[in-house]
Amino acid sequence: MQFDDVVRNRHSVRSYTNFPPSGTDVQRILEIANMAPSAGGLKARNIMVVRKGSKTEALAEACGGQQFVGEAPFVMVFCADIGRIKAYGERGEKLYCIQDTAAAVQNALLKAADLGIGSCWVGDFDPEKVTQVLGLPDHLIPQAIVPLGYEE
Ligand SMILES: Cc1cc2nc3c(=O)[nH]c(=O)nc-3n(C[C@H](O)[C@H](O)[C@H](O)COP(=O)(O)O)c2cc1C
Repeated sequence: MQFDDVVRNRHSVRSYTNFPPSGTDVQRILEIANMAPSAGGLKARNIMVVRKGSKTEALAEACGGQQFVGEAPFVMVFCADIGRIKAYGERGEKLYCIQDTAAAVQNALLKAADLGIGSCWVGDFDPEKVTQVLGLPDHLIPQAIVPLGYEE
C-alpha cells in the first residue's frame, strides 16, 4: 500500500475475527515499531506481545473492562523503559522515554494497517494492574496497549 493510503486507511478496530495474524506479520509489526526514533537512539522502550488467553483477559479487566482487548488474537503492550534513559535525567524519565514509546506505538499501528491487520491504541488502563498481570520489573512503565487482529 502507498504510505498516504496506509495513513488514511488506519482506524481503530475494536472487533476481531478469530483468525489470528501470522507470527511473521506480528514480527514485522514489532520490527517496524522498533525502528521509530528515540532520544539519543537509546530506544528507551520495551514491547511485549501476548497471545489471546487468560493474560489478555486480565489485561482487558485492567483496561476497565474494555472487552475487545481480551478478544484480540494478540495484544501488544508498550512500556517506557526508565532504566535505559537515565543519561537524560528527569527530562529523560518524564518525557523522552514516553515519547520514544509513543513513536513506536504509531509505527506499529501504521504497519498493522499496511498488513491489513486491525489495531487500536488503548491508553485507558490501570498501570499497576497491567504491571501485576505481566509481572513487569520496576523500570518498565506501561504506556499503551494495542490489540491486533483482523477486523470483523
Ligand atoms: C493516547 C490514546 C489513548 C487511547 N485510549 C483508548 C482507549 O482506552 N480505548 C479505546 O477504545 N480507544 C482509545 N484510543 C483510540 C481513540 O479513541 C481513537 O484513535 C480516536 O477516536 C480516533 O479514531 P481512529 O483511531 O479510528 O482514527 C486512544 C488513542 C490514543 C492516541
